[in-house]
Amino acid sequence: MRILVTGGAGFIGSHVADACLARGHDVLVLDDLSGGRRENVPDGARFVTLDIRDGDAVAREVAAFRPDAISHQAAQVSVSVSTREPQRDAQVNVAGTLHLLEAAVQSGVSRFVFASTGGAIYGELPAPERGEIGRPPRPLSPYACSKLAVEGYLGYYRHAHGLDATVLRYANVYGPRQDPHGEAGVVAIFTQRLLAGQALQVNARQALGDEGCIRDYVFVADVVEANVRALEGRIAEPMVNVGTGVETTTRDLATRLARAIGVTPTLGHGPRRAGDVERSVLAPWSGLGAPVTLDAGLADTVSWFRARSPGAGAD
Ligand SMILES: NC(=O)c1ccc[n+]([C@@H]2O[C@H](COP(=O)([O-])OP(=O)(O)OC[C@H]3O[C@@H](n4cnc5c(N)ncnc54)[C@H](O)[C@@H]3O)[C@@H](O)[C@H]2O)c1
Repeated sequence: MRILVTGGAGFIGSHVADACLARGHDVLVLDDLSGGRRENVPDGARFVTLDIRDGDAVAREVAAFRPDAISHQAAQVSVSVSTREPQRDAQVNVAGTLHLLEAAVQSGVSRFVFASTGGAIYGELPAPERGEIGRPPRPLSPYACSKLAVEGYLGYYRHAHGLDATVLRYANVYGPRQDPHGEAGVVAIFTQRLLAGQALQVNARQALGDEGCIRDYVFVADVVEANVRALEGRIAEPMVNVGTGVETTTRDLATRLARAIGVTPTLGHGPRRAGDVERSVLAPWSGLGAPVTLDAGLADTVSWFRARSPGAGAD
C-alpha cells in the first residue's frame, strides 16, 4: 500500500512510519518540523516539509503520491498551548485536517486514520468510571474541542464520500522518541530529568503536594499496532480507544521510573495546570489484546533515553 503519514517526524508518527515500512508499504511523510525532528523520519520513507495549514501544498502532495491510506498524526499537540492560543490550535487541528480530507476525496484516497484523544475528549472521569466509546464527550480544553470537531467531520466524510475513516482515541502515549522538552509527555520529561540527576515536579491534581493527576499510560508500540491495523483495514469499528484501563498517579509514575533507572527521585510540587483533567482512564478496545505493561514500557523507554544521553557516550 501507499501510506501517507502526517506528523511522521514526530514521536508517534515516526513509529507508525517505521512499522508501515517494515510491513512493506511505501511511505510518504509530511511534517512542518515545528515539533518533530528530521532524524526521526525513517530512511526508507519519502519526506516533504509542509504545513498542513497550506491547503494548496497539501492538495499537491496528496495528488502526486495518491496514497491508499492516510495516517493523520500531525497536530498542535499541547493542551496548555490550546488554552492560550485556541485559534492557532483550530487552524492546525481543524482547518489543517480539512485540507487533508478534501485532498483525500479529490485524489480518491479510500482510508483515513485519525489520531484523536481519549485522554482529553471524555473530560473529567470520576472513579471508578472509565472513558467508553459512546459516552457523551465533555471536552474541557480547546485541544479536546478541535479533536472532537474532526471526529464530527469524519462522520460527514464517511457519509457523503464513503471515506473509510477510523478514529483512534489514544490515552497518554509514552515511549522512545517522545520529546522531553515540551510541556506534555511526562514520561519523557521525567526520564530525561532523572537521568540528569534533576528533581521532578508533580503538578497538583487538586491541591499543592498531592499525588498528581491520574492517567492511563499506553506504550507507543500498542498505539502503532492500532494504527497499522486501521490503515490495513483490519479494524471494523469506526472508533476505538487505545489505552490500558490501568490508572497511575504522577507520583506513582515517578517512583516506577526512578526504580527502572535505579535512582531515588527528589520530588517537588507544582500547582494545577490549566486545561488538565484530574482523572482520565480509558476502557480500552479489546481487539488489541493485552497491552504492554507500564513497567515493561518504561524499561524500554529508559533504555532508549539512556543510549542517547551524553553520559552513555552515544550522542
Ligand atoms: N502523545 C500523546 O499522549 C497523545 C495522546 C492523544 C493524542 N495524541 C495525538 O497523536 C498525534 C501525534 O502526537 P505526538 O505525541 O507524536 O506529538 P509530536 O509533537 O511528537 O508529533 C506531532 C508532529 O506534527 C507535526 N506538526 C505540527 N503542526 C504541524 C503542521 N501545521 N503541519 C505539519 N506538521 C505539523 C510536528 O512537527 C510533529 O512532528 C497528535 O495528533 C496528537 O494530538 C497524542
